[in-house]
Amino acid sequence: MVNLLAIESSCDETAAAVVRDGRHVLSNVVASQIEAHKRFGGVVPEIASRMHAESIAGIVAQAMAQAGLAYADLNAVAVTGAPGLIGALLVGVNFAKGLCMSTGLTLVPVHHLRSHVASNYLTHPALEPPFLALIASGGHSHIVKVNSFTNYEVIAQTRDDAAGEVMDKVARALGLPYPGGLHMDIAATNGRRDLYSFPRPRLSGSPLDFSFSGLKTAAMNQINSAKQKNEAVGTEDFCASFREAVCAYLTDHTICAAKKNDMQKVVIAGGVCANLRLREMLSEACAASSLELYLPTPNLCGDNAAMVGAQGHHELLAGHTAGMDFNARATAPIEARL
Ligand code: KG4
Ligand code: ZN
Repeated sequence: MVNLLAIESSCDETAAAVVRDGRHVLSNVVASQIEAHKRFGGVVPEIASRMHAESIAGIVAQAMAQAGLAYADLNAVAVTGAPGLIGALLVGVNFAKGLCMSTGLTLVPVHHLRSHVASNYLTHPALEPPFLALIASGGHSHIVKVNSFTNYEVIAQTRDDAAGEVMDKVARALGLPYPGGLHMDIAATNGRRDLYSFPRPRLSGSPLDFSFSGLKTAAMNQINSAKQKNEAVGTEDFCASFREAVCAYLTDHTICAAKKNDMQKVVIAGGVCANLRLREMLSEACAASSLELYLPTPNLCGDNAAMVGAQGHHELLAGHTAGMDFNARATAPIEARL
């Protein structure tokens, strides 16, 4: 039996969890900072760092209490080490290092995107690599081949903006609150999907790569030109049409990548994968191509620490531990160990 305390503070959620054997969540505490960042329309890094520093000790204590374990019952402390907002990451990493120093526990740094993928090991207890994963979050849009629990290969990535980032920006231009992707998804529920049209980006070189900046610019231009002409933009229809374009783009590339790489299993991960239309579209597309689709439960799509414990388990088994000289990093490739 391997018990891990896991800590996540890469963006605007301070989170701690206790995970057993990489599959069982004994506790999962998430303190969201959304309310604090809302009035700025996005995450303010300095506020995020300060709020993490204020709440991390309490959140970790709560996770330990809910799991009913003492530090002596733990095998290691897993922590998000990269990528993310550097000031925010440092709070979690330094707290984890302090805990390891005082308890003698082993430190296990975890890559944030690997942990998003690992949220699926919690939702689907029998899921094992190899599989193809679409990772779509506020900062990243990747398609990766997960060859083993700790061996990742990037098949495609975005050349510019991330899927969540463009949904957030377009939603903001429509006057929707932060986080825009979520509010766009809600507003799209009763909207028409075919009322506004957006170009499908085409890239030379690596055709499976994404580019979301053209989609964003096309949306912004339509919103601005309507404003200039004093015309109203139908928010529900605009959201439904834009969401349709982003989800179709993500779905098509994912299915194409699975076929091209002979993968039978498709896994999705990251905040954007809570999107109802994306889940529906991928379910239909995978069924039509006889691919098995694995979706994380919506509460595990956004940032949380349970997923860090799930991936941390496999990093620990692989011997990917770190010393007290470990440092957080704002960027890091998903392929290399931290
Ligand atoms: O994975 P995540 O929580 O944080 C990062 O690692 O970036 O993802 C946050 C992103 C934000 O862009 C947010 O708008 C988006 O996920 N998001 C959604 C939905 N819920 C959150 N995007 C589309 N549909 C949703 N339902
Ligand atoms: Zn994330």
